[in-house]
Amino acid sequence: MTADCSVVVLISGAGTNLQALIDAHDLPIRITAVISNRAGVEGLERARRAGIPARVLPHQDYASREAYDHALAGLIDSHQPDLVVLAGFMRILSAGFVERYTGRMLNIHPSLLPAFRGLQTHRRALEEGCREHGCSVHFVTPDLDAGPVIVQAKVPILSDDTETTLAARVQQQEHRIYPLAVRWYAEGRVRLGNNGILMDGTPMQQPVIL
Ligand code: GRF
Repeated sequence: MTADCSVVVLISGAGTNLQALIDAHDLPIRITAVISNRAGVEGLERARRAGIPARVLPHQDYASREAYDHALAGLIDSHQPDLVVLAGFMRILSAGFVERYTGRMLNIHPSLLPAFRGLQTHRRALEEGCREHGCSVHFVTPDLDAGPVIVQAKVPILSDDTETTLAARVQQQEHRIYPLAVRWYAEGRVRLGNNGILMDGTPMQQPVIL
């Protein structure tokens, strides 16, 4: 893929990962839309400040998950993106939606997957007495947070860490690895094959760890 891999970013909140993608000016992507399921969130302002069309599609307006996901897919497809980037989009996605974007939808998750799928990852890592924690960028598949992982970053857990300090340390790394994974996708270096991830055409045995 060339200099214009077009990307739609889905958010629900602060949008710091969106900001990292906006700020990575040499990324060979064009963010053509930012879509949030929540109104009034900071991520929408970040999009507007960057001149990116920002839309709210409130999930409360739809009777079922499938109905919402159908409308969301219609909105995404109106931008014809090469890649869909989930950046703190806090919704479970229906299988039909995920299948529609298989191999062209990425997510960032705040843990070293397969550890700590789901929510409250920082709290759980502290409670379990882990020595290290981190974040993962993965292709999205129908099972929550279970898709093939492209890249991870590890951070130490310090003895005086709280959820807040640990989350901040992990987020710094999120802002580093998400633009990197998006770059690899946009450059055509990373792809989802039938049996897992291909990196430069070669099966990836394990995620890149930074
Ligand atoms: C990040 O911690 C990400 O790992 C998780 O949701 C959070 C989004 O943060 N999926 P932001 O909206 O990008 O600041």
